[in-house]
Amino acid sequence: MNANIGAPTADIAALLANYSLPKPLGFGVELAPIMFRADYRDGAWEAGQLVPFAPIAINPAATCVQFGQQCFEGMKAYRVAQNEPHLFRPESNYARFGRSAARLSMPAPTPELFGKAISQLCGAFQKFVPGDSGQSLYLRPTLLGLDHTFAVKASETYCFLLLASPSDAYYGKPISIMVEREHSRAAMGGTGAEKVGGNYAGSLLATRKSIDAGFDQPLWLDAASHTVIEELSGMNFMAVIDGALHTPSLSGTILPGVTRDSLLKLAASMGLKTVERTMLIADLLTDVKSGACSELFACGTAAIISPIAAIGEADGNRLSLPKENPVTTKLKTALLDIQEGRAEHAFSWTAKASDEQALINRLKS
Ligand code: COI
Repeated sequence: MNANIGAPTADIAALLANYSLPKPLGFGVELAPIMFRADYRDGAWEAGQLVPFAPIAINPAATCVQFGQQCFEGMKAYRVAQNEPHLFRPESNYARFGRSAARLSMPAPTPELFGKAISQLCGAFQKFVPGDSGQSLYLRPTLLGLDHTFAVKASETYCFLLLASPSDAYYGKPISIMVEREHSRAAMGGTGAEKVGGNYAGSLLATRKSIDAGFDQPLWLDAASHTVIEELSGMNFMAVIDGALHTPSLSGTILPGVTRDSLLKLAASMGLKTVERTMLIADLLTDVKSGACSELFACGTAAIISPIAAIGEADGNRLSLPKENPVTTKLKTALLDIQEGRAEHAFSWTAKASDEQALINRLKS
């Protein structure tokens, strides 16, 4: 019934003894030579283990291949200014992974399994977690439906993988974005608020269009009216307007980003006014033209905060933002200072990756 794969046994220590970090890292280019794998069958998760990173055998008729029964997360372990890798709000990623799995009728890994996977992988790979500011060990928990069936039904067997990539930030310089006025990323009742592969597959044509028009990626509008700003393809969207931080409210069609939520809380703690609201694209463009909108940025786990230098249309017309972005810079510094362990702060956002039991307790909270 399932398309399973014997997990290879290997001497993980010997594998890591021969490993070294490449330079430059880039984002998601280099893959750690180890991963964690656990399989689900007969209604239960097996214990799982660290295995060498390698392609896995998947039946070409598996539900993850045929129907996109797949979800994932993006998290990071940071090593800067700390001896050991620390995680940032891992319970938020775990909760979202659970919601994504449930939305596609998949069983989520238990807190014990998820915590063990993160803790064991970060522990084994500890000395290779890159340490410059903005770098991290990017973690990609992934859940795949394995049963082969051409009938549209949920799998009964699954594979949970934790992949890792020692990485730089997603973008090394300010980006430009194209307002996508034809296609939509998500509609009410769909999967836009979950982290499922199909959301990203559906964005790729618009990304190509935006690149062909001289931009980096599309800015998505709502599916119903094509007038309301939602988010970018893999990042949330924020604007500084009249000195306040504005972002689209969580309408049910955009991803509830952990970085988005953290920045709203951080900004408020720094005395900055924050506004979550329906943001009309027409109003935003007027505000950019008049100068009322002084800064735009993308935010997400991978992106951290990426300033947006210009916003434009498929015909190539664009509006430039001022080169100076003091609010963006201040927020980015404050966030990284917390994530990389340099700042005292009032939030309990960071957690030692190696303390498996404490991590599991957090995931249960
Ligand atoms: C993240 O920010 O971690 C993401 O998953 C976005 C993208 C790289 C897929």
